[in-house]
Formats: sequence, C-alpha cells, structure tokens
Amino acid sequence: MLTLGKGSGFGKVILFGEHFVVHGVPGIVSAINSRAEAEVRITSGKIEISDERKGAKGYAEEKKTQQIESIERMLKTMGLDPKTTSLQIMLGGNLPSFSGIGASAASSVAIARAIAEEYKKVMSDEKINQIAYEAEKAYAGNPSGIDNTAATFGGLIWFKKNLKGGPNIIERLTIREPIEIIIGNTGIVANTKAMVAGVAARKNSKAKHYDRVFKQAEELVSTAKVALKEFNLRKIGRLMDENHSLLNEIGVSSKELDFLVGIAREQGALGAKLTGGGGGGCMTALTPTRELQEKVANAIEQEGFKVLKTVIGI
Ligand code: PMV
Repeated sequence: MLTLGKGSGFGKVILFGEHFVVHGVPGIVSAINSRAEAEVRITSGKIEISDERKGAKGYAEEKKTQQIESIERMLKTMGLDPKTTSLQIMLGGNLPSFSGIGASAASSVAIARAIAEEYKKVMSDEKINQIAYEAEKAYAGNPSGIDNTAATFGGLIWFKKNLKGGPNIIERLTIREPIEIIIGNTGIVANTKAMVAGVAARKNSKAKHYDRVFKQAEELVSTAKVALKEFNLRKIGRLMDENHSLLNEIGVSSKELDFLVGIAREQGALGAKLTGGGGGGCMTALTPTRELQEKVANAIEQEGFKVLKTVIGI
C-alpha cells in the first residue's frame, strides 16, 4: 500500500527585532493563522517538488535553488542521504509564499514533519525545530532561528539567539486577546540571505553607528515585551513605528515598503513596519478592530498590492 507522510508549519510575523535578532538582540514573533502544508511520498527516482502555494509571482522560481539545498540539508540532519533518497514532495496550505512571513521556515517545518511521518520516525518538536533551522541556512545564510521556532511551536514568542551555539532562549508570551493586523506585500521577492549578509557587512564597517542602533533596538524590544503584556495597543503601535525607523537606519527597508507603511499610518493603523528580511517582501500594521483592519487593507489593495488580514497572539 502506498503511504503518505503529512506535516504542517505556521506562518509568522516578526513584530519586533528582525535582523537585530541575528546578532543576539531579542526579537518578538507571532505565528499567524495560516500554515504551509506538505505531503511526502517515498518514490524510486529522484527528489521531486511540486509547489502549489499561492503567492508572489516568481517566488517559487526565485527560491528553487535554495529550496533544493534546504531539503538536502534537512535530509542530512535527519540521517538520510540526499543522493540515494527519492521523494515526491507536495507543498500547499493557506500561507501565501510572500517574502517576510516565514514561508520558507513554515515549509521546512511542514516538510520535515511529513518526511518523519513517511519514514515512521517519531520526532519531538525540538528535533523538528533543529532540522528546520539547518534547512533555513539555505535561505538565510546565518539565520537567527526565530522563523523556524515560530513555524514549529506557533503562538507569540520572545526569542533570543544563543550566539555561543547553545540552546536559544524562548519565552512564550500571552496577551489578553488576539489583535487584528494586516500584512501588505510589496510583491518584490526578497533575498533574505543577501539582506542578512548586507547588515553584517555594514555592522562591521560602520561599527560605531550600528552599535548605537543595535542598543536602541535592544531597549525597544524590552519595552515592547512589557507593552504587549500590558496590552497597551497605542504603545505597541508606536514601538512598531520606531522599529521601522531603526530598520531603515540599517538599510533594509525599501521605497515600496515605506510607501505601504505610510498608507497604513495615514489610514489610522496604530503602527506599521516592515516585517522579516525587508528589501521588498512584506510590511505589517497594527489594526485592532475588524473595521480598521478592513479600512487599511482596502487602501493598500487599491494601490494594487496584496494584503493578508490576520491576527497575532492566537
Ligand atoms: O524574511 P523572513 O521571513 O525569512 O525573515 C527573516 C528574519 C531575519 O531576522 C531577517 C533573519 C533571521 O534569521 O532572523
């Protein structure tokens, strides 16, 4: 009888601290209500991937090489030889493959879970997270681990990378009730690996300036953690705005991202910022209440951009 392994991984939105988190500054991430889903079947032949995810035009082609490398890394970490393993991998789910909402990490978690099921290997979430982290290196070069952690465990998470290579610090946060947000997509497929490497290079060459900005980011995330606990929506929004400015300072925003952030603020969003790797990809805005969410989403859509309406803190 033909078997089929199945798995899924959460999409995510980084609320505070992307990029800074790679260098040991804490970050805050929330899973969103959309997931990547994978089905895997052992075949005879080679590794075949059919990517049925809806999303940014060109995303699948642009990421193809990185996707293949990520699966090879994943197989090695799972004790399987990529040269002799033949699998049919089907990717789907309701998480659009936009850059910046953890599409790669969610798909890695989904595929790892599906492979584990197909090979009848029982794996803890911690193990799946570790496998997805190895896979993420193909997409992000030197990832912090925040994406795969959110994709594996879900929820709202405060995350700090352990720069010495030991276990990262992960703290679950809870908020009073879920908050509506929107995620606006610039439509530009961003190369996270290049963005992460760019920040690292500039951090080296402009050490004094970057040290100051990184310090500000650290303080901001610590204030944001308290604001989330207190459910102080205005403060959370204001801190998102400030986070966007800091991301601009380290050169990861773009005119399209700034444009969408500007629209969201004009329409009454409590705060708006780019989310994820930047350089294209997505922005997010805090739009508590369905009405405000609708208003901001409509305004962005009217300019011809795609929007995902979702919540944080589920
Ligand atoms: O663009 P995404 O969804 O892959 O997010 C990348 C987040 C970074 O902080 C830029 C990189 C990382 O590994 O933390």
